[in-house]
Parts: sequence; structure tokens; C-alpha cells
Amino acid sequence: MRTILVTGGAGFIGSNFIHHLLQKYDYRVVNLDKLTYAGNLDNLRDIQDDPRYRFVHGNICDSQLVGRVMAEVDAVVHFAAESHVDRSIVDPGAFIQTDVYGTFVLLEAARQRGVERFLHVSTDEVYGQSLPGQRFTEDDPFRPRSPYAASKAGGELQCRAFIETYGLPIVIARPANNIGPRQYPEKAVPLFITNALDDQPLPVYGQGLQVRDRLYVEDHCEALDLLLHWGELGEAYNISADNERPNIEVAETILELLEKPKSLIRFVEDRPGHDQRYSMDSAKMRALGWSPRHDFTAAIEKTVAWYRENRWWWEKVKSGQYQEYYQRMYGRRLAEAKPYEG
Ligand code: NAD
Ligand code: TYD
Repeated sequence: MRTILVTGGAGFIGSNFIHHLLQKYDYRVVNLDKLTYAGNLDNLRDIQDDPRYRFVHGNICDSQLVGRVMAEVDAVVHFAAESHVDRSIVDPGAFIQTDVYGTFVLLEAARQRGVERFLHVSTDEVYGQSLPGQRFTEDDPFRPRSPYAASKAGGELQCRAFIETYGLPIVIARPANNIGPRQYPEKAVPLFITNALDDQPLPVYGQGLQVRDRLYVEDHCEALDLLLHWGELGEAYNISADNERPNIEVAETILELLEKPKSLIRFVEDRPGHDQRYSMDSAKMRALGWSPRHDFTAAIEKTVAWYRENRWWWEKVKSGQYQEYYQRMYGRRLAEAKPYEG
């Protein structure tokens, strides 16, 4: 039986991926996670007693711990990261530490161990924003514009160096914005849904005209599964769903699905350096036999349904330190917001 190290497996995509792996394969999974504000063991509650699953509470920057964990595994899927652009604007240091240095620590341990494969989860944001008509392919240059995107680019460049210098068997994924169950409600979609469910305002940045491609997390997990097994070593793959929508349309759709009034929308002060649009060509990923099963409507409907049915999950998450975060990020902006007149 193969043993896979999943880093950041208590977060949104990592926990969905662990579920995917355990459902489909007879692999052992070791989940190394620091349990930051975004890590949540409720995400893994249903599999915590599965004998094939082991949780290790720890930091990917801790080289001794990482060396010990690496000794038990055959392959790595690396999700652990500080992942929210708005937090990176307020506190970029944590992003450099985990997304750049932590990635280096894992790569170095993987090299010492001689793992079969290292799947690095990067992001579309390394390319920077897409200009009108522009769709990035894997050969486009990196032009990251936020501290988060720059940190992810730094981590990915470490991967590139380990491929070229040491021949480490790395495959790189560059996914679009994911949506689906268990996403921490700091990201736009779960924040909008949970606020709407509580009849609270939906803070839309600027005029809500920025565009994101919404990839359903299960489709993403299927793509990562393919890359883990069949991705060409040393190659990067864009994972996009062709579900591009402006944020205002996403907010409106959520309100329609929940039968809540559009007057809940508030236009708030924009994010500094806000990337206008992300758009990627995923022909290379699709040539491996992958295509997303969810269009925008299916993805947002399933996501809304999950939050509607799992109030226990997000009410717990939104208590405590989340409230401080929300006040700090949105208190003044919501007080000064412009109403929706659509
Ligand atoms: P998330 O914030 O939900 O989860 C991150 C997880 O990493 C948490 O469980 C956290 O506790 C853990 N973690 C953070 N720092 C750590 C450290 N130093 N050591 C060990 N564990 C640590 O993130 P997510 O949305 O699931 O994203 C997963 C990965 O996918 C990230 O690398 C992110 O950059 C990338 N990505 C995400 C999206 C998206 O839409 N969410 C899109 C493209 C790429
Ligand atoms: P987010 O979910 O933070 O993902 P990313 O910035 O990594 O793409 O934001 C998605 C889009 O939604 C982005 O254009 C910023 C916007 N947004 C809002 O309009 N309001 C919000 O409260 C948040 C968090 C994001």
C-alpha cells in the first residue's frame, strides 16, 4: 500500500482531497497540518478513525518534524499555505514563512527521502491578472501582484529549482478559484453565502466587476488525482473550469438561490492591487483525460446547498476570532458602503 503525505489536509481543498483519496484508493494518508485559523479537524471528523488515516499536528517549517514524517511516505501532495489575499495585504510575513520557506523545507526533506512524486499545489495567481482577451498558458511568465501571489510564486520557483538541480520528481498544479464544501468563510463565496443565510450584508469590492473562474472542489480533486498518478514529471498544469463570472453576478446568484433580497449587497472600498481577472487555458490538463463535471450553475448550487445544510460547521467557524477578523476587515468599509441599485 502506498502512503501519501498530504500537507494542509485540515483546510478546504486538502480535506476534500483526503476524502477523495480514501474513497477511491487503498492508500495510507498522513496529514501534516499546523491548524492555523483555517485548519479545522471538523473537516475530517468522519474519517478520523479510519485506520488508513493519521493526523500529525505540526508546522511544515519544522525541518526535524518534516524529516520524520517524510521517512514514512512514498509521495507528497502539498497544499499547506497561508491562502487568503486580503490577509496577505495586512500581514505578508506569515505568507513568506509558510508558502516559500515551508515549501523549501518539504522539498529538501523529499529530496533526502527520495520520494516517488511531489505534487505541488500552486495557483493561477502566479500569472498576475489577465488582460482583456488574455488566457494564460503554462509557459506564460509569472507576474504576481499580491503578497499571497508572490509567496506562491516563490514556492513554485523553489520547485522549479529542485526539478532542474536535483531531478526531484515534481508535478505542479495551478488551479483556479475553488468553491464547494468546507471553505473558510473569509473567501468571497462562503462569506457571501453564510452572510446571506444570516440576513447580513454581502460586501462586494468596488463595483463587483472583477472576474474569477469558479472550479468546483471535487473537479479539482479529480484533476489532482490524475496529476498525482499520471502528470508528467517536471511539468506544470493549469486547472481551470471555464466558469468565469464577475463577482456581482456571483453575489446575485447566491441571493436568488437563497431567496434573499438583492438589497443585502453592499459595494465596499476595493482591495488594493485587486487583480481584475484570472483566466487560464487548461488544454494541457484536459489532454490527460480530465474535464470538470460542474458548470457554474451546478457548482454554485451544490455549494449553497452544503452551507444551507451544514450551519453547525460554519456557525462554529464564524464565532470567536473570526468576529475580530470580520470587524477589522469590514467594519469601517461596511459603515461607508454604497447600496445596491441593480
Ligand atoms: P486553506 O487556507 O483552507 O487551508 C490551508 C491549510 O494549511 C490549513 O489547514 C492550515 O492549517 C494549513 N497550514 C497553514 N500553514 C501551515 C504550516 N506552516 N504548516 C502546516 N500546515 C499549515 O487553503 P485552501 O483553500 O484549501 O488551499 C489549499 C492550497 O491550494 C493552497 O496552497 C492554496 O494556495 C492553493 N489554492 C487554493 C485556491 C482556492 O480557491 N482556495 C485556488 C488556487 C490554489
Ligand atoms: P477571494 O475569495 O478572496 O479569492 P481571490 O482573491 O484569491 O480570487 O475573492 C474572490 C473575488 O471576490 C475577488 O475578486 C475579491 C472579491 N471579494 C469581494 O468582492 N468581497 C469579499 O468580501 C471578498 C473576500 C472578496
